[in-house]
Amino acid sequence: MSTDTSLREPLPYEERIILDKWADRSCTLEQYRRLHSECTSNPEEHWARVAREIDWFKSFERVMEPGDHPNVYRWFPGGKINFSYLCLDRHVRTRNRNKVAIVWEGEPVDDRGQPLEKRVLSYYDLWRDVNRAAYLMSRKLRLKKGDAVAYYMPMVPELPALMLAAARLGVIFTQVFSGFSAEALATRVNDVGARYIFTTDGYYRRGSVIRTKDIVDKAVKDCPDVEGVVITRRLGLKDMTVDHERDMSYDVLLREVPANAYVEPEHLDSSDILYVLYTSGTTGKPKGIIHDNGGYAVILHATMKWVFDIRDEDLFWCTADIGWVTGHSYVVFGPLMVGASIVMYEGAPDYPEPDRWWSIIERYGVTIFYTSPTAVRALMRVSHDYVRRHDLSSLRLIHSVGEPINPSAWRWLFETIGGGRCPVGSTWWMTETGGILISHTPGLCLIPLKPGTNGWPLPGIEVEVVDDKGRPVKDGERGYLIIKRPWPGMLGPPTGMWREPERYSETYFSRFGYFFTGDYAIRDSDGYIWVLGRADEVLKVAGHRIGTYEIESALVSHPSVAEAAVVGIPDEVKGEVPIAYVVLRVGATAGSNMENELKEWIREKMGPISVPKNVFVVNKLPKTRSGKIMRRVIRAVATGMLIGDVTTLEDQAAVEEVKAAYEEMLKDLAKNE
Ligand code: WT7
Repeated sequence: MSTDTSLREPLPYEERIILDKWADRSCTLEQYRRLHSECTSNPEEHWARVAREIDWFKSFERVMEPGDHPNVYRWFPGGKINFSYLCLDRHVRTRNRNKVAIVWEGEPVDDRGQPLEKRVLSYYDLWRDVNRAAYLMSRKLRLKKGDAVAYYMPMVPELPALMLAAARLGVIFTQVFSGFSAEALATRVNDVGARYIFTTDGYYRRGSVIRTKDIVDKAVKDCPDVEGVVITRRLGLKDMTVDHERDMSYDVLLREVPANAYVEPEHLDSSDILYVLYTSGTTGKPKGIIHDNGGYAVILHATMKWVFDIRDEDLFWCTADIGWVTGHSYVVFGPLMVGASIVMYEGAPDYPEPDRWWSIIERYGVTIFYTSPTAVRALMRVSHDYVRRHDLSSLRLIHSVGEPINPSAWRWLFETIGGGRCPVGSTWWMTETGGILISHTPGLCLIPLKPGTNGWPLPGIEVEVVDDKGRPVKDGERGYLIIKRPWPGMLGPPTGMWREPERYSETYFSRFGYFFTGDYAIRDSDGYIWVLGRADEVLKVAGHRIGTYEIESALVSHPSVAEAAVVGIPDEVKGEVPIAYVVLRVGATAGSNMENELKEWIREKMGPISVPKNVFVVNKLPKTRSGKIMRRVIRAVATGMLIGDVTTLEDQAAVEEVKAAYEEMLKDLAKNE
């Protein structure tokens, strides 16, 4: 039994695995290289070929053209399209009409551990729900193309229905992860200019009730332009507060919608906005990433085929919350577009016991499983009896996403969960890319697996690993990962980043002239990419993207805090966790409770995922003479490492300064203990 979850295994890890079962889909590196270079040498033709496989109301006139701002592109201009049509109307005219679209399972269980709630929606059911939702939105709420709404919804089937209803009307939606705080919600609602917020009374998580509506009540106080709040009763809470001026029950509104309501899907321009999704960067407020319709549809269609090898009889389960981009692309739009059956589960992987996921795979016969390294590391730490209790033989393909997967976690997925039969990959992409860009492609042809790698870029995608000056580094050397050409699904028109065209260009293109991902990576001698982690001040905590800057800002907004520095340190399960160092204001005293008070403050301001593991009160933060916080010193202190290679610092005085700051910080911490 392997319980080694060490994250420091040396990379790249040069073992090659070829699966007998996949022999007919396997290809040599040479074959893949050729395929890749054929597609990539004529990307327009390549993407046009893919795009012709999906349904357009009106065919596109060109593949791509520059938009109105630098580095923004319009994909498939002239094309008319609608996601709701692609995901539903098309299917209800075929044998998919009565196929399962969504199997949803609620978290609560009976005393025998059996789930108490299950809902199954066919494509026809979902099509009707979406039409009724679209009717409600357009007729009752007077929402029209180009308006914005916000969803603050947990994992309930109403959420995909609402997303598809907005898509049907060309209403721009932003889904805010249901674990975010009131303040985080309010910021996003105001930034996007949402007219309505859709939410639930609450939901179940790890045996407790989370009261979503209370959080919305708090948020909406700071959202002067919100016209109303629409609430789905997930729990039926008796004591839910109702503001009759503002709050509306989704069910009551639906009662006034004709049972067979039909709303014509808008014929949207390929580059009209589908949604805006906020994500963290290194500075400033969260970035509103724009995704279009046409380009996004094409990358999702392509990756559902190439990466997931989706077939008619599959049951596809992406365990991500819909609040993140993974859920947008691979719980909702990607799989429904190709007519797949999906699983949606409301709750925690370890409720009531750490075999809940394995029981779901067994119960419904999941064939394709898409999950995160953090979840894998958490679940591989408990007794393997939890896995052995269940028959997982339905699985045929497994991928992970969100952060690097260490070889031993990979091996556990491969052997213990996949039974050595299933290809296991680590698909690399980001909120900004819309869909997977670097991955094994078992649906196309499968090159040998290597534990922990991302594999080759997809056909049509060209990446490079470069040094500080933008020069390609040698194979096997670490550098920055850049994407050399625009791709379908990239940040969309008109401005890439919602209302911030300059910030868009500055963030992604100013450093290298190509799209900079923010990641460190290695390309090995076989051309496989190994993304190692972020090269900037962004953390991946349990796969969630958190800007250290945001936590620092939240800390200094506390009345007692003068300065704050947040760094990430390795964590056996979550990959990385934040640690904070704060200097208090003159006059403020560090009571014994200061650490807890500040953690609670962050939970309130940002939500539970951003809470630092530790908050240390120090007298001084190590700074250079020019006043820049020396993060390297702080990280060294936090990880208990001796200060690393300071000889790379340009002047010797700086070396002395760094060493002195390190010593001082250690002394400072010792004193406060
Ligand atoms: C960052 C993007 C889009 C999926 C969910 C995360 C890291 C993502 C991998 C992987 C190594 C990965 C990168 C990237 N990342 N997938 N397979 N291997 N690192 O989306 O929150 O926008 O984060 O996640 O660091 O930059 P996101």
